[in-house]
Amino acid sequence: MNNLSVKYDTVLFDLDGTITDSATGIAGSIRHVIQRMGLPEIEEEKLGLFMGPSLNESFSRHLGLAGDDIERAVAIYRDDYAVSGIYNNRVYQGIPNLLLRLKKSGASVILATHKPTVYARLILEYFGLLGLFDSVVGVPLDANYHDKADIVRQALPARRKGRAVMIGDRQNDMKAAKANNIDAIGVLYGYGSESELVGSGADRIAAAVSDLAEMLLPMDGGRSEIAPTVNGLFMTIEGIDGAGKTTQVPLLAERLTQMGWEVVTTREPGGDLVAEKIRELLKADGIGDMTAETEAYLFAASRAQHVRKVIMPALARGAVVISDRFVDSSIAYQGAGRELGASRVQRLNELAVDVCVPDLVMLLMVDLETALLRRGSATRLDRIERSGESFFRRVYDAFVGLAEEEPDRVHIVDASRSIEETTAQTLALAAECVKAHLMA
Ligand code: TYD
Repeated sequence: MNNLSVKYDTVLFDLDGTITDSATGIAGSIRHVIQRMGLPEIEEEKLGLFMGPSLNESFSRHLGLAGDDIERAVAIYRDDYAVSGIYNNRVYQGIPNLLLRLKKSGASVILATHKPTVYARLILEYFGLLGLFDSVVGVPLDANYHDKADIVRQALPARRKGRAVMIGDRQNDMKAAKANNIDAIGVLYGYGSESELVGSGADRIAAAVSDLAEMLLPMDGGRSEIAPTVNGLFMTIEGIDGAGKTTQVPLLAERLTQMGWEVVTTREPGGDLVAEKIRELLKADGIGDMTAETEAYLFAASRAQHVRKVIMPALARGAVVISDRFVDSSIAYQGAGRELGASRVQRLNELAVDVCVPDLVMLLMVDLETALLRRGSATRLDRIERSGESFFRRVYDAFVGLAEEEPDRVHIVDASRSIEETTAQTLALAAECVKAHLMA
């Protein structure tokens, strides 16, 4: 921690349009209000006007409601939002990493929103971000109206040491900052325009989340950063052929993207052109006998390429990398399947992987018979897939053994049930891993 070098030691964030892109969820609940109250439909483009200001203000201005009708509309909106709108939301890419870096640099990170505090907390929790905020200040569920300036006033810690800044996407955020004599940064990736933000007092404008990092994090003479980039996360999915890894990877990627991460999905053997060429060689027919040792070295060679050209650069950018197979596949397939021995295969992979160790290994388990059945639908089997049942029995037993010997490292996912049930398990493991990373 290096408090002295922090540009701002108190950083307030607005939620909708600044941390989360909540348009879909909010628009859905607005439409629900319009329908339930029998109001005339409004055009799609007009729904954007509801993002940012308080509901009362929007309902009066854009739906022409007044008095009790506003209260009724707000109640209908909240009932719908609580069950469907709230999770119909995504975090802007780069936000988790920015918050983590701010935290590590010693700043107080505070949420100041027009939303009811309970919803704001639920949303942050759903995206794994709650623990990164020192406090979450919204409005009580039964509040009728709150000026954003009051929320910011409440959110600002009484004893602040240095400078504070409010970051938001609408004019009420900028005005609230100015009313409290703090700096205001307007973001353009939300729902407000540059003229709106500048016209309402923005001191600076951030076009993208990456600009925020530059404005908020301490730089050393504008060149090397004192607050270093935080590494991303490396997750691998393992299992025998037919376990369903290929189905799970994109589903996992989608959820992590929704949580604001840059996600890189990849597979082994493969990754870049060199590694793909090695893959072709490994799978090729008609090239004569390949010894088990050659096969093990080829997998390790493609991995060396994959690690250095794909995985490490992505992790250095702060991305989450999900790899369909990694070194545990070599231990199971070449170590056990080809009977080279786990420790020898482990040793020959050391140079290939270097310091690139997965943060999470998920092992998709189905019994061998189910896997063979699932795989049976594939018309042409490649060289490895034709290795015979006793080979796959050894591979299967080796995976089970890995999970039994190292339960803290290798996490079993029961993949024998529906895709949805399997996905629920992989998502829970990934979310836990992200949370641990953000809280470390
Ligand atoms: P692929 O068609 O990608 O199979 P899957 O979709 O089941 O992953 O081919 C990868 C094959 O290579 C698969 O049969 C497992 C095998 N393999 C090894 O034998 N050792 C390894 O280290 C790796 C990564 C894969």
